[in-house]
Amino acid sequence: MTERSAYRPLSRRRLLTGGSVAVGGILAGAGTVAAVHGADGTPTAAPPVPVVEIGTAMEPFHGPRQAGIATDPQSHAAFVALTLKPGTDRAILVRLMRLLSDDAARLTRGEPALADTERELAVLPARLTITFGFGPGLYDAAGLADRRPPSVAELPPFPIDRLQPAWSGGDLLFQICADDPLTVAHAQRMLIKDARPFGAVRWVQQGFRRSAGVQAEPQTQRNVLGQLDGTANPKVATGALDRAVWVSEGPAWLRDGTTLVLRRIRAELETWDLLGRADKELAVGRRLDTGAPLSGTAEHDPPDFAVTDATGLPAIPDFSHISRAHVTEDRLRILRRPYNYDGVPSSDGQPDTGLIFASYQADIERQFLPIQRRLAELDLLNEWTTPIGSAVFGVPPGCAAEGWVGEQLLG
Ligand code: HEM
Repeated sequence: MTERSAYRPLSRRRLLTGGSVAVGGILAGAGTVAAVHGADGTPTAAPPVPVVEIGTAMEPFHGPRQAGIATDPQSHAAFVALTLKPGTDRAILVRLMRLLSDDAARLTRGEPALADTERELAVLPARLTITFGFGPGLYDAAGLADRRPPSVAELPPFPIDRLQPAWSGGDLLFQICADDPLTVAHAQRMLIKDARPFGAVRWVQQGFRRSAGVQAEPQTQRNVLGQLDGTANPKVATGALDRAVWVSEGPAWLRDGTTLVLRRIRAELETWDLLGRADKELAVGRRLDTGAPLSGTAEHDPPDFAVTDATGLPAIPDFSHISRAHVTEDRLRILRRPYNYDGVPSSDGQPDTGLIFASYQADIERQFLPIQRRLAELDLLNEWTTPIGSAVFGVPPGCAAEGWVGEQLLG
């Protein structure tokens, strides 16, 4: 993971004298700019791209685990799901994943993909990560149903669901995240272009968080309901994230992988707006301004469900979102990495907005489902949130520089 630094235009003096941990990245980025080639393959002069730290920052693509999960969330994301075309078998999937891994390795380094027609768009990776996920149908297409992580299967229906096929399912997922939307758009186009002989685009979900550099880091993001969202996530520093997210045992095609549940959850902002502040806080169990649990005073105070208020009732109501979702044991927790979405409002001004709720966990059955079942059964927040899309993916381990994503499964 790279530290995200505040936006500072790069001065010639700083570039020459160093003095910042990010300079290596900047020089690498500048080198990349200089390496742009003309249509006939001959090097051309470096285009005058004014490099700044946010634009040139990189996240390594290669490694034992795929990037884009433990990575400090970037500002923009596109989740692209494909339906594999009939006849796409294991041999084709091997060729496809080799090609897509090569694209991802280049683009995340700030280099154009092979046959990139807009190569100048590739030079500012802005912490681009490209994460591949395999839906249940991919294991079947490859003739490897027995290697599908058992919990990677369509979720059971919940009474709160209003799922739309337009946002659900999928055989192959690209999760593309970067601190710049043009970088995301370019990577999305390159990957779809290379994959489209073998897969049809099923859905694309584009989302955002606060832009890089607009607030001091680290800070919890706010979602479109105005809540601080992500406070109780398992953290890298304590080892809790590792224990919750990565598969640590079993065959090679599972180890250092994880699973993703992606839910598109509409926020019913018109009715949410009718609530007073105190009611909004009771629905979640945390304060809107500080994010503190209603039993405490600071955002990271652990919630104390035994604390009562002046009337003798629990300060954090039993029906609140965090009362229902709270889990203490790391192997039962989930990593939430949600993005906001905000589409075009209807002609009478009704918003089309909500969360692209991405949850990572080693095992969906053990970790995600018990929480989701408790929330579906009782959670006051359900009054103002509606799941309208649902998809699940196995996330294979990462790969070394000479390898490709999926090699442990398909190779
Ligand atoms: C639009 C839908 C949702 C919204 C707006 C939302 C919002 C929030 C907020 C504001 C918090 C408190 C701050 C924090 O720790 O991040 C929270 C906590 C949490 N949420 Fe959600 N959430 C949503 C859906 C879900 C779903 C679908 C799940 C899992 C199935 C989930 C699981 C959790 C968990 C595990 C916590 C931490 C609880 C704790 O230990 O304190 N949330 N959510």
